[in-house]
Parts: sequence; C-alpha cells; structure tokens
Amino acid sequence: MTENAAFPDGFLWGAATSAYQIEGSPLADGAGPSNWHRFTRIPGKVRDGDTGDVACDHYNRYAEDVALMKSLGLGAYRFSISWSRVMPEGRGAVNQKGLDFYRRLVDALREAGIRPMATLYHWDLPAALDDRGGWTNPDVAGWFADYARTCFRALDGAVDLWTTLNEPWVVSDGGYLHGVLAPGHDSPFEAPRASKNLLLAHAAGVAAYRAEGKGQIGLVVNLEPKYPASERPEDLSAVARADAYMNRQYLDQALLGKVPEGLAEIFGEAWEGPTDAELAAMKTPVDYIGVNYYTRAVVHDDPRSFPVMEGRALQRNATHTETGWEVYPDGLYDVLTWVRRRYGNVPLYVTENGAAFYDPPVAPEPLLHDPLRVAYLDAHLGAVRRAIADGVDVRGYFAWSLLDNLEWAHGFRKRFGIVHVDFATQKRTPKASARFYAEVIRTNGACLRPAGS
Ligand code: BGC
Repeated sequence: MTENAAFPDGFLWGAATSAYQIEGSPLADGAGPSNWHRFTRIPGKVRDGDTGDVACDHYNRYAEDVALMKSLGLGAYRFSISWSRVMPEGRGAVNQKGLDFYRRLVDALREAGIRPMATLYHWDLPAALDDRGGWTNPDVAGWFADYARTCFRALDGAVDLWTTLNEPWVVSDGGYLHGVLAPGHDSPFEAPRASKNLLLAHAAGVAAYRAEGKGQIGLVVNLEPKYPASERPEDLSAVARADAYMNRQYLDQALLGKVPEGLAEIFGEAWEGPTDAELAAMKTPVDYIGVNYYTRAVVHDDPRSFPVMEGRALQRNATHTETGWEVYPDGLYDVLTWVRRRYGNVPLYVTENGAAFYDPPVAPEPLLHDPLRVAYLDAHLGAVRRAIADGVDVRGYFAWSLLDNLEWAHGFRKRFGIVHVDFATQKRTPKASARFYAEVIRTNGACLRPAGS
C-alpha cells in the first residue's frame, strides 16, 4: 500500500448487476425464454406481477449505462451473460446476435477503461433446459461447459475475469427446496441433486477455461456468518448445521473435495451426495473466490424450519434493511478472515455488497439522499479494509447494485441501486451513495471513516 492509501494499489473498485435483473428485451434478436421469463408469468410468484420484460432496458441503453459507470470512476463492472440469449435452446445452436450484444457491451467497457467481469450463470437458465429437469439433470454440467466454451471463444481476452456460477446455494435453496425463485420447486429430494450438478457444472466450466482461456476464473458464493443465539447445545448444533448448509456446502466440495460434516444428515433420506469420483471431479483450483455478503444470522434451534432447523433471533436494536436483513458490517470481516483460515490464502473479491433501503419511485431534485446506504457502504468498506490489514488478499469490491433493478421475487420495490432508476421513464439518477462511492474510488478508500470512529 502507498503511504496514504487505505487500500492496496490496483484494488478493483466496481459495481455489479445481473442479466435478468436489468436487461429487459428477453426475447430480442433470437433469444430464447429463460426459466425466469417463465417464472415471472406464474401468478403470485413475483410481487406486483413484475417481470424482466423491460427491467432497466439495459439491452438498449448499455452505452448510456457504461457512460454512467465512467462518470462514477468505476474501475470494473460485474455483469452476467444470459445463457438463453447465447443458446436459445440451452444447447446446440448458437445465436450470434446474443453474443454480439455482450461483445458491444464489453468493447464499450474497455473503451471507457472499465474492466469487465463476466458471470456465466446468474440464475436465468434457458427454459428449454428446465423442461429437461434443469439443474437436477446430470447432463447439465456438460451443457454448461459447452455454453461456457462458446462465451470464452467469443469474449475471452476482452474479458479476463470470469465467474462460473453466482451463488449456487441460492439456486438450489430458493429454486429447488423452497420454491421462492425459479423454477419454483419445493422438493428436499431435488435440492441436493441440484447442488451436486451445480458443483459439477462449475468444475466443468473451469476445466473448459483452463483448456483455452487466458485470464482468471472463479466461483461466487454468498456467505452469511452464523452466530449462536445462546450457548445452549441445541443452538450450537443449529449453528453448525446452518453453517454447513449455507457456507461450507459449496466451498468445501469445490476447494477441499469433501462434503461438509453434517450435510447428509440434514437431508436424511433425500440426500444424494456425490460419489468419490464426483467429489474428485468437483475439486478444482480456482483463481479467486467471490464473496457476496449482505447480513449475518443469529441462530437458534427451530425444529419447524425444515430441513436445517435454523431459527433466526431478531436483533431488536439493530438497523434492518427493506429486505429485513440486519446491518452487520463486522460479519463481512468475519467471513473474509474465515475464508482465509479455512481455505488458505486464495485471492478474494467482494463481488456483491449493498442494501435495499426505501427510495421514492421518482428521484427528488437536486439530490436523492440515501444516508442509510451511504453508512452501509462506509461501514462495510471499513470491514474490508480491516480484513486486508489483517492479511486477507482481497483484490476488489463490487457494490450491489449499480442500478435499482428487478429484485427477483420482490419485484421492483426493493431498491439496491447506488443509481436510482425511474421505471416509468428509465431515467437514471445517481443517489448520494453513488457520489459517496465515486469519492471512495477517487481516493482509493482514503475518504472512508477512520476505524473506530
Ligand atoms: C444476488 C442478487 C440479488 C442480491 C440482493 C444476491 O443474492 O446475487 O442477484 O439481487 O443478492 O438480494
């Protein structure tokens, strides 16, 4: 670090989005429908009946959005590629026009001096693959590798930071166990099968990249540290279960090649764990791990919450976001240092961090003040700085999100953006948090609140 800088030289300052949440035009230029295109059409699944049909219209406004990123001084932009734009049927024929969109985006980013970080899968599976069982079909790893290879061949070089999957835990838990996200299944039998195939797909994607890619590839996981609500043995066991299920399930298998202790017991007869050969196939070195962090959980034993039996103790004196998540910056320090302790000194990026707080549908003049979001970013960046000072190799930070967008089943009401979007007019307005973040970037973090103040 240089003398006055709070963060290492070359630290990557970015913001993140995902395809279905912002692009709109889901069927344009030959794209096929995704599972989310389908899911949003099931009555009652998404609040207010919102869909990604228009979203932030980024598909048509990407150039304006890149200019906006440049004006904020972003050094990097994390986005995802829509599989069904590139392969409308999920496998087989490639839709060149879909790839061309990402080529235009990546070229615009490079021209603006912004480093692209591309995620291959951020939850939108081609509907045609859903018809074949989606993530529960053992063939999905091969389909994913073919799709990944197509993207590498079209974009590698211009993109030198790749992610296989975004938050596989959410795909399996939200999509196959609880049914709150696409494809909306609630089956304890499907969830472990989906997890296994996600891990195999990740490894197959990394292998495809090793064969011809020139940059770096990694996995993005959401980590939520679990703290016991009491020292009662039941609560301590609940913490261990919750931690195995959410935090260790993917990293232990992908990095250590082992199924975390206690995971099979959670699923009982529904458990369909990997064979030794599958475990060996899953374990593959990555160039980095992306950590998405939003909140913590204070856990107590709750036999009613199937299958993990994880109850959450409400922290009455804490600030909570609009999604009901406790603001707990120390948790980010705790997960970053935990990853280093458990998995070694693998390079890390904070690939998502941010908060939904209430903002009005139309941005007020002259400035939309979002002090809670500013405080959230400030405190969490302080936690990142502390982890770096304690030796964790954190290479960059991506605010979630660049834009207000379709917050999945919550629809458009939960606003995570540092830039406000008026969904009636598509007008973008940087919030006070965007100005704050621009200053953080400009000073390489030197303007953050000093530790302990
Ligand atoms: C996801 C994002 C989502 C954010 C806020 C993450 O789990 O990757 O797509 O919008 O959290 O809920």
